[in-house]
Amino acid sequence: MLRIVVFGSGRGSNFESIVDAIESGDLPVKIVLVIVNNPEAPMIDKARENYIPVAVIPHHQISREEHEEAILRELERIDYDLICLAGYMRILSPNFLRSVKSKIINIHPSLLPSFPGLHAQKQAVDYGVKYSGCTVHVVNEDIDGGKILGQDVVEVKSDDTEETLAARILEKEHQLYPRILFDIAFGNIHLD
Ligand code: GRF
Repeated sequence: MLRIVVFGSGRGSNFESIVDAIESGDLPVKIVLVIVNNPEAPMIDKARENYIPVAVIPHHQISREEHEEAILRELERIDYDLICLAGYMRILSPNFLRSVKSKIINIHPSLLPSFPGLHAQKQAVDYGVKYSGCTVHVVNEDIDGGKILGQDVVEVKSDDTEETLAARILEKEHQLYPRILFDIAFGNIHLD
């Protein structure tokens, strides 16, 4: 069974889609820990409702180094195979990437390498692309860089706003992340 740690900062809808897929029996994955940097994040209650251990590690008033050291201390106490970022709004340092014992993957709301960084859906609407979507990729030192593991496409309509496009992309995200985890669990895709 693939043992994952999920990092998040907010709403937690991607996290929920993974929990739902596990509960339906379709995904042979165990979420061993949720790490949240925002004490207000709705994701905390979602984890607790599902009896998943949560570590709330706020980043306020400490340096990035201290924050990451606190996360590493939590990770050292558990056994895990993969870290999954799901709306985690902090950039992880190269030192952190080297210090964890597993790969890290992330979901991003655009067809990378187009529109990395913040407000990817607004970037797509502003640019006027006809198609956007979502990407699950391996995290490396480049923002939203790293090997692409899977993507799904969403048509951009002429009257789309950032919000309407984001909502349709999010529906695809909720299918894509569990699907990629399924393929990782069964060895159908490789992270190297
Ligand atoms: C998603 O759009 C994800 O692609 C991006 O942040 C958002 C997180 O949403 N990285 P949620 O917390 O999973 O609902």
